[in-house]
Amino acid sequence: MPDESQDDALAEAGYRAVPDDQGGRAARGWWDANAQEYLDEHGEFLGPADLLWCPEGLRESQARLLGDVRGARVLEIGAGAAQGSRWLRSVAGADAVATDVSAGMLAAAARLDADSGVAVPLVQADARALPFADASFDVVFTAFGALPFVPDAPRVHAEVARVLRPGGRWVFSVTHPLRWAFPDDPGTGGLTATRSYFDRRPYVESAADGRVLYAEYHRTVGDHVADVVGAGFVLDSLLEPEWPAGHERVWGGWGPVRGARLPGTLIVRAHRPPA
Ligand SMILES: C[S@@+](CC[C@H](N)C(=O)[O-])C[C@H]1O[C@@H](n2cnc3c(N)ncnc32)[C@H](O)[C@@H]1O
Repeated sequence: MPDESQDDALAEAGYRAVPDDQGGRAARGWWDANAQEYLDEHGEFLGPADLLWCPEGLRESQARLLGDVRGARVLEIGAGAAQGSRWLRSVAGADAVATDVSAGMLAAAARLDADSGVAVPLVQADARALPFADASFDVVFTAFGALPFVPDAPRVHAEVARVLRPGGRWVFSVTHPLRWAFPDDPGTGGLTATRSYFDRRPYVESAADGRVLYAEYHRTVGDHVADVVGAGFVLDSLLEPEWPAGHERVWGGWGPVRGARLPGTLIVRAHRPPA
């Protein structure tokens, strides 16, 4: 019997072009394999039922980026363990549905449902092919879900536009594009640009046989704006949350040292034009 864990061992990591089908497919397996580790590391900060937009600690309870969602039909894509949808259902009074491509992340969501007593409707779906009718939601959102892991972001925006009703709102957070020019180091090593901001090659991890295990895609600020406007949305705002004084928690390459000088997160708010 082949040793699968050995086959999937990380052999190479770096910035390189890979075929789109391989890069786009990798996320499902990677998040299945790493769901528990992600939640062990970040679950407490995320909270079981809370909508955290970014490592800077901005929460929807303060920011209200989704607007008044009481009674609204809300779709979360790339929901992970669905903490945001759980908060929307239990606190904000929204009719929220959570989707993710990874069965491992959705299994973690089901465990949180059971522990918290707040059940979120969970649907396994690639954000590039949403299994919902046209104009069936008032709001769609994601915090760091789906978009960074697909080579073809316009497909996600087109699907979001399709399932949103006219006038509906689309809000997403991603790693701030500027960060891609810097090493992913939360300390002073992450303060000197070592790559071109304009180099769109994805960050890729692969196995010894060349299979793509993980791919994360870079888009400049202009690319995000072009994707949003290209899908027919009206852009409402670009937010760059500042690192709050006294916030010491490090999350990957995010932390107070870099947060004092560089933006770490970009949040985009847009809406479908009214009919
Ligand atoms: C960084 S996690 C964010 C999860 C959650 N929003 C949070 O804040 O913890 C990224 C999530 O995007 C999901 N994802 C990746 N590619 C996707 C795709 N094509 N469609 C839907 N979800 C995807 C992953 O499975 C993972 O759960």
